[in-house]
Amino acid sequence: MKKNIVAGNWKMNKTLPEGLALAIELNAALAGAQPNCDVVIGTPFIHLASVAEAIDTNKIGVAAQNCADKESGAYTGEISASMIKSTGAEYVILGHSERREYYGETSEKLNSKVALALANGLTPIYCCGEALEVRNANEQNTYVKNQLEETVFNLSADDFKKIVIAYEPIWAIGTGITASTEQAQEMLAFIRGLIATQFGHEIADETSILYGGSCNAKNAAELFSQPDIDGGLIGGASLNVADFKAIIDAF
Ligand code: PGA
Repeated sequence: MKKNIVAGNWKMNKTLPEGLALAIELNAALAGAQPNCDVVIGTPFIHLASVAEAIDTNKIGVAAQNCADKESGAYTGEISASMIKSTGAEYVILGHSERREYYGETSEKLNSKVALALANGLTPIYCCGEALEVRNANEQNTYVKNQLEETVFNLSADDFKKIVIAYEPIWAIGTGITASTEQAQEMLAFIRGLIATQFGHEIADETSILYGGSCNAKNAAELFSQPDIDGGLIGGASLNVADFKAIIDAF
């Protein structure tokens, strides 16, 4: 059965002591709780090992926010999927629009990253989503379809089953403008339809598809009530335990 997932994306925020304190506070807040969703936190690389050590990873999964497109070797400054796995992290956010836009992540690079993540037993949370100009031209469906066809739709069905998709319209990220519930549901249903065409209905129904972009404690319950919205990828509101917990409790 597909899982509901609330995944935090801390982005480039929090020093190591601050991040550790945030993770420990979230762990305590979830201690006696039985959330109706899987909970994941996407921390900066340098936090991964300490955070995984400090929390109950059966309750809160740990995610990196990127991985290298190479396996190992002379790639100064890069962090490989196997290194991430060795920290105790189990997920990796890949293809976030900020990485595509500011760090030149092409579909080709993302294909290598997804393959290496899977080969090392990490679950990719694969992001897609259009810019405002694309939405204004009403070309968002074709745009997202191309993003998926150039990347994760090349996977085998067995590998595709291991990934999570996150749709994040760029115009909604960090802007306070959330896609309307209808816009989010419509796009996620469209994506599920594409998956069904590519891999069959059974796999489409089992795939967790998340919405991301200014999802917060106020709008989460309505978004998560939609049939095709299986959770959220949460930026700003994951930096504060009360807000993040309220989003988890929206399920
Ligand atoms: P936001 O970011 O919740 O701050 O809009 C979401 C994301 O980029 O993952």
